[in-house]
Amino acid sequence: MTILNKMINGKMYAEKMLREIYPLSKEFLENFNRKPCLTVIQVGENSASKIYVKNKILTARRNGIESREILLTSDVSEDELIQHISALNKDEDVDGILVQLPLPKHISEKKIINIISPSKDVDGFHPTNFGNLFMGDPKFIPCTPLGCLYMLKHEIENIKGKNAVIIGRSNIVGKPMASLLLSSDCSVTITHSRTKNIQEHTRKADILIVAVGTPEMIDETFIKPGAIVIDVGINRLKSKNEYHPSDKGKLVGDVNFEKVLKIAEKITPVPGGVGPMTIACLMHNTVKAAYLNKKHYFINVLEGIL
Ligand code: GUN
Repeated sequence: MTILNKMINGKMYAEKMLREIYPLSKEFLENFNRKPCLTVIQVGENSASKIYVKNKILTARRNGIESREILLTSDVSEDELIQHISALNKDEDVDGILVQLPLPKHISEKKIINIISPSKDVDGFHPTNFGNLFMGDPKFIPCTPLGCLYMLKHEIENIKGKNAVIIGRSNIVGKPMASLLLSSDCSVTITHSRTKNIQEHTRKADILIVAVGTPEMIDETFIKPGAIVIDVGINRLKSKNEYHPSDKGKLVGDVNFEKVLKIAEKITPVPGGVGPMTIACLMHNTVKAAYLNKKHYFINVLEGIL
């Protein structure tokens, strides 16, 4: 098998999803005389967040979605941020609200997520949306795990009964991913930084989802031969050329791609794996929010996935 045959092409799947979303945003404009609208709030100068936000805004514009950006300085007060969100909650021309995480330490992420109207929560982080997901009746599903499930359902003929192991227990990836895989009839294990003998778990995984945030931590010793590996990490290594500060370091995942490729059946690359799918799912959630907020039926683009 060649490398290409083993690679799960996230960019290709993202384009496939966006091809289904674009006509729906065009139709929304024809029906309601405005485009679906996503507003992204970014607080501070986190360089990774700036790149993610720029990609979200550009992808929205390319897909018939109006995107607005609110940039706030890192010393903005929690109250001021809440006032911005309250205004967006009331604005009938705004369909989706996304507050890019992480937030500065003096702002409670929990409080901010709770303020966003669940019907505009395109991240799917509000407790109402989180709860509905775990009850098996989701409305807005967090974008990264939804993107991972989309690729898995296309790559695996029958996911039922597979052993799925997740490394990482965050609210953004690990926990919602576990819920989605459970609803897909997998047997699910969540491991994390305090798990003892983590390889004992991961070596039983038919599906391994890695979201640890440590560059290239996962090597072949974690992998069951023939496993499907989804790498959620995006890490920038230090540039090797210190005399050229503009030379950016290499982007790598949490998985050591070369080592794991030898033993896994399929693997997502970084970049070009989970990242583009996350953004495509955000576009899906935004257009869905736009239709639902107009009390209009939204065609299920995820038929066969959920
Ligand atoms: N930071 C990293 N991933 C995400 C995401 O999916 N949504 C938001 N709002 N912030 C993030």
